[in-house]
Amino acid sequence: MTYRIYTFGCQMNEHDSENLAFNLEKMGYEKAGEKIPDLFIINSCAVREKAVQKLYTMIGRAKEWTKKGTILGIIGCVSQVEREKLIRRFPHISFVLGPGSYSYIKETVEKAKRGEKVVLTRWDNNWWETKGSVRIKPAVAYVNIMEGCDKFCTYCIVPFTRGREKYRPLSLVLDEVKRAVDKGFKEIQLLGQNVDSWRWEEYKFWNLLDRVRRIKGIKWIRFITSHPKDFSEEIINIMAEGEPISPYVHLPLQSGSNGVLKRMKRGYTREEYLKITAEIRERVRNSSIGTDVIVGFSGETYKDFLQTIDVLKKVEFDNLYSFNYSPRPLTYALRFLADDVSKEEKTRRLRQLQELQSKIQLGKNKRFIGKTVEVLATGRSAKDEKAFMGRDATFRVINFKYNGNPIGKILRINIKEAGPHSLIGEVADE
Ligand code: SAH
Ligand code: SF4
Ligand code: F3S
Repeated sequence: MTYRIYTFGCQMNEHDSENLAFNLEKMGYEKAGEKIPDLFIINSCAVREKAVQKLYTMIGRAKEWTKKGTILGIIGCVSQVEREKLIRRFPHISFVLGPGSYSYIKETVEKAKRGEKVVLTRWDNNWWETKGSVRIKPAVAYVNIMEGCDKFCTYCIVPFTRGREKYRPLSLVLDEVKRAVDKGFKEIQLLGQNVDSWRWEEYKFWNLLDRVRRIKGIKWIRFITSHPKDFSEEIINIMAEGEPISPYVHLPLQSGSNGVLKRMKRGYTREEYLKITAEIRERVRNSSIGTDVIVGFSGETYKDFLQTIDVLKKVEFDNLYSFNYSPRPLTYALRFLADDVSKEEKTRRLRQLQELQSKIQLGKNKRFIGKTVEVLATGRSAKDEKAFMGRDATFRVINFKYNGNPIGKILRINIKEAGPHSLIGEVADE
């Protein structure tokens, strides 16, 4: 019996797929590779309309396979909110599991094989008890620390797809990190929708970082995603103490306008955001800050947008993901705030923002030319199939040539060239 999982969305989804793969292999399934799988699972993302449209297209295409006997299951964030609707629209789907119901995978597949349809979106799943993962990235291990979100930003569907915040017990996080390190993983990425709000008994997130960094053998500990409202002084303190805590932080801004931030219900002002990032820049050596921005949210004037541009210029982000506002079901914004910036205007603003950010990144990346950085090699280069890629402490992508297989190694690389999105270098010594 063979399986294939296709994953949309964020690292949380990627990691859920890794855990699911582990459970499928325990049930005797093997990776299908290029063959038509006996079991095809699509792990869906609901965060923007585009991702959902792509999902529908993929479900449509999978009909060819289901006619030949493949069982099709949809899991992830769209499953949680659409439930039976998915099967009503696409009767060739056998099961729909929400992110809180993956522990039922075995029963679900058995029922599906008998021709029963299954829809489960309960949250009675001790997902943090997960005993193993088929890790998809070499050298980098994802480790869940929390799931869900209590923030309810007005534009965001995630609190409805992932439910309320749930925290994984400290000892289970530490056990999984130790197991990954024993297997040779050099980078640990602690995952959660809002990692900073993790807590367990008297421990807070910075205590967790402190405990994880005492485990020997980790090169970099990264954590994704942070929230400006919960990003504490203690987290900056521990980042300032350096490796193995990564100097990279992903801190979504969303907008630089106080009016827009308020309508988004983000819980901070541009001034507060600038204060946190200035402190990170001042206190953390080699600090690197990534962010997310939404353009064209309800009521965003061009003047509001220029406030976002201004924050980009002030912070000089090291990377940025930017999106056109996409109204989502169940959200406050869909019901009460008009989607009143035209599609053309959103796209214009997005382009302006990305052009500026490209220039900023190119300028910052050029400062790396001539320097030697440590790089954890993680795979083949996306640009040049004869080259490899990896990331440095700041999370920059570095491409380089290598005789043999460098994957999983930490190399010293001399940086020779810089583009806006990646660097090119040569191995310095070994
Ligand atoms: N928990 C994280 C990630 C949320 S989803 C956080 O709070 O940052 C990842 C990104 O998708 C968000 O940061 C936001 O920039 C974007 N996003 C979320 N909802 C969106 C929407 N309705 N339209 C466009 N982008 C959206
Ligand atoms: Fe969505 Fe806001 Fe929660 Fe992030 S903090 S997941 S943007 S509701
Ligand atoms: Fe998408 Fe769900 Fe992640 S909506 S971004 S897969 S939490």
